[in-house]
Amino acid sequence: MTSNRYWRLDRHPDGLNFSEAFSLQEETLGPVAPNAVRVRTQYLSMDAGTRMWMTPRTDGYQPPLPLGGKMTGLCLGRIAESDDARFPVGALARGFGQWADFADMIPDVAGLELVDESIPDVRQHFGALGMNAWTAYAGVKEVLGAQPGEWLAVSAAAGATGSLVCQIGKLLGARVIGIAGGAEKCRYLRAQLGVDVAIDYKNENVEAALAGIEGGVHAYFENVGGAILDAVLPNMAHYGRIAICGLVSSYDADAAQAGPARFDQILMRRLRVEGFFIPDFLHRGPEFLQPLRRWYDAGQLQMRFEEFTGLEATLEAYAAMMSGRNIGKVIVRVHD
Ligand SMILES: NC(=O)c1ccc[n+]([C@@H]2O[C@H](COP(=O)([O-])OP(=O)(O)OC[C@H]3O[C@@H](n4cnc5c(N)ncnc54)[C@H](OP(=O)(O)O)[C@@H]3O)[C@@H](O)[C@H]2O)c1
Repeated sequence: MTSNRYWRLDRHPDGLNFSEAFSLQEETLGPVAPNAVRVRTQYLSMDAGTRMWMTPRTDGYQPPLPLGGKMTGLCLGRIAESDDARFPVGALARGFGQWADFADMIPDVAGLELVDESIPDVRQHFGALGMNAWTAYAGVKEVLGAQPGEWLAVSAAAGATGSLVCQIGKLLGARVIGIAGGAEKCRYLRAQLGVDVAIDYKNENVEAALAGIEGGVHAYFENVGGAILDAVLPNMAHYGRIAICGLVSSYDADAAQAGPARFDQILMRRLRVEGFFIPDFLHRGPEFLQPLRRWYDAGQLQMRFEEFTGLEATLEAYAAMMSGRNIGKVIVRVHD
């Protein structure tokens, strides 16, 4: 018998008010179910996309989480029990489990995979070698096809996904424009990530700043939507490409949001716009990992972490990420 604490979704959160929506519960776990694997969580990944699962929306890329159910998210930890021979007890693994001491997963449903134990900082499996890195790589390389010398812009540029987009864009030879909230984030983008242009959307007019980009933006990696997308659209180069990775500015809405006000620019500038979702690419993980690992080993790909301690700190960590208090990746250390 194993004692387990987990975060339960009791009601749909209103904005950032997560403490009214979730409660920390305790239970006693029996043996792991047939074909399942139980991971003792070491780290939890705080991901903006999971905010939509907390709403009642049924038209998202994932069905909403049922009220009264355990909160789901990416977990990293050691396998404590296993009924799947591919996943031996003691191995380090990452997958979509629960915000809990112990995450139970059916491996093929949860995208569970064993990760390389030789990486000294295991957090990098949520960083330079994690899902955000796969997302950044797939978006920049495959969806946008960013070319050397082109202007590549990205929103939420100082966050987990965005900071990797900036670095991968530079490594592929693009000229990178990072859009982020606040002077400190913009300094980080310039000084640490080497972007060519950083725009502070909280204190600058994004549309006016982008108007100075000679020839326009060739490739745009969208993480935010709303007003930022409206500022970018009229500044795209003709025949430019837009990868819709995320629309975080509207994830806390319980209903679909109105489309971009500057939708006309897609025709006027003959743009190609494509949404993509990394779970569709999970089978290509080993392929994406090769360049990421090479850059990481060469010290060319980095991730800054904002680490919170203890399962009880999870809601605070999540709110910090959703309100933009983070530079880099927000994680929760549950156990050593
Ligand atoms: N398609 C996929 O498969 C996939 C996979 C992973 C991530 N994503 C997307 O990538 C984006 C970033 O996610 P992440 O998990 O890496 O989180 P993150 O960027 O580390 O953190 C979220 C950031 O979003 C920005 N933000 C939050 N609310 C905003 C608002 N109302 N307006 C403008 N900016 C806002 C904040 O930065 P500022 O201070 O700069 O505002 C905040 O730091 C999300 O849209 C997420 O859905 C998509």
